[in-house]
Amino acid sequence: MTENAVPAAELYTDEFAVDPYPAFAKLRVDSPVCPVTSPRFDSYLITRYDDAKAALMDPRLSKDLYGPGQHFLRIFGPNSEGLNKNMLNSDPPEHSRLRQITSRAFAPRRLEALRPRIAEIVAGLLDRIVPDGHADLMRDFAIPLPMMVIGELLGIPDKDRQTVLEWTQVIRESGSSGRPPAEEKARVQEAQAWLHGYLTELVAAKRIRPGDDMVSMLVAACDEEGVLSERELVSTTFLLLFAGHQTTADFIGNATVALLTNPAQLDLLRATPDLLPQAIEELLRFDGPLPVASPRIATEEVEYQGVRIPEGSIVGVVINSANHDPAQFEDADRLDLCRERGPHLGFGHGVHYCLGVSLARMEAQIGIGELLRRLPGLALAVPPEELRRLPAASPFRGLIELPVRFTA
Ligand code: HEM
Repeated sequence: MTENAVPAAELYTDEFAVDPYPAFAKLRVDSPVCPVTSPRFDSYLITRYDDAKAALMDPRLSKDLYGPGQHFLRIFGPNSEGLNKNMLNSDPPEHSRLRQITSRAFAPRRLEALRPRIAEIVAGLLDRIVPDGHADLMRDFAIPLPMMVIGELLGIPDKDRQTVLEWTQVIRESGSSGRPPAEEKARVQEAQAWLHGYLTELVAAKRIRPGDDMVSMLVAACDEEGVLSERELVSTTFLLLFAGHQTTADFIGNATVALLTNPAQLDLLRATPDLLPQAIEELLRFDGPLPVASPRIATEEVEYQGVRIPEGSIVGVVINSANHDPAQFEDADRLDLCRERGPHLGFGHGVHYCLGVSLARMEAQIGIGELLRRLPGLALAVPPEELRRLPAASPFRGLIELPVRFTA
């Protein structure tokens, strides 16, 4: 690493956890391709919009973390391997094969059929909190909603969903439990091992008794067509489970805070519900749940903004910084629900563009739309700076709790 590398501890401060956008703005100007050192692994952060978009398309920045260098182990630790042999961690042509098989489950007609069920789940969750006049919207709404939806899609039995949710939350909230780091690491590994075991059993159960769900469909691709290995099958199920609920939960939380702290925009949306689809895109641009795209590895030396990134380096494309780049978005730090639906990078770009984008939009539109309709007078129950957030260095941007009150 070069001398001007920034230690991760200097970047990921408490202020960064609350509001990372001033730090991103500084990086875009002073060090748009910034080397960052950390005890776990060093990396290069790409923060300008044009570079970020190019990097997400750059075949020299590989997603195959299983090659030489043991990148997977370095980044995610032991126990993660069985869960991560999936499309997100592979390059074409492997990636194309894995993505094509899974895409069948996201056919527009199949997803459209899910709309009434999502509305029903949203209504059920809101029915429970409406009489109280207060809630923790993460615990009571944003986290369970996508878990229930992806649970149904995957065919996870109802009785197991809460336990699955608890173990996935251990991974999501790692670094914020207050436990010593070694204990925390052991707990994440325990969660990975539990999920691996559970999903392996789920696959076995679907083999005996298939249903009309995604896991059964993937089992058929594995057993009947032979186009998916057993490890890829379990690992793809994990990707769908994790990607399917984690990001959506954090997005609903972040979007709600953005609206509640921008009352004029909130009023506008309440008065103009037709704005909702456009508003969802702007809220994702404004404060997305995946600040940095999943790690890439330079397969050869590459150069961005005159900075040479050596072969074998880990590269982080900072989506949330790119989405606030004033060179791309006018008045980029302002929430403007009427903004033209611009080409934000919140769902990624290139071959790894979010596979669940239509589902995510559907959940967010129904979820946020109904939240505003059913909870009049919705307001934060604590000042925004006191909201408990995931740690600054977390790969996810989200809240641990979202206490609100409303007119019961
Ligand atoms: C607001 C919610 C969501 C956001 C912001 C989001 C964002 C993203 C982003 C940025 C990527 C690209 C990551 C990269 O290039 O490193 C991605 C990939 C992916 N997302 Fe989403 N996602 C969301 C919801 C979902 C849902 C509901 C699913 C459904 C299961 C899903 C499934 C996937 C999958 C399978 C990939 C990997 C695609 C590939 O590697 O080809 N996502 N998502």
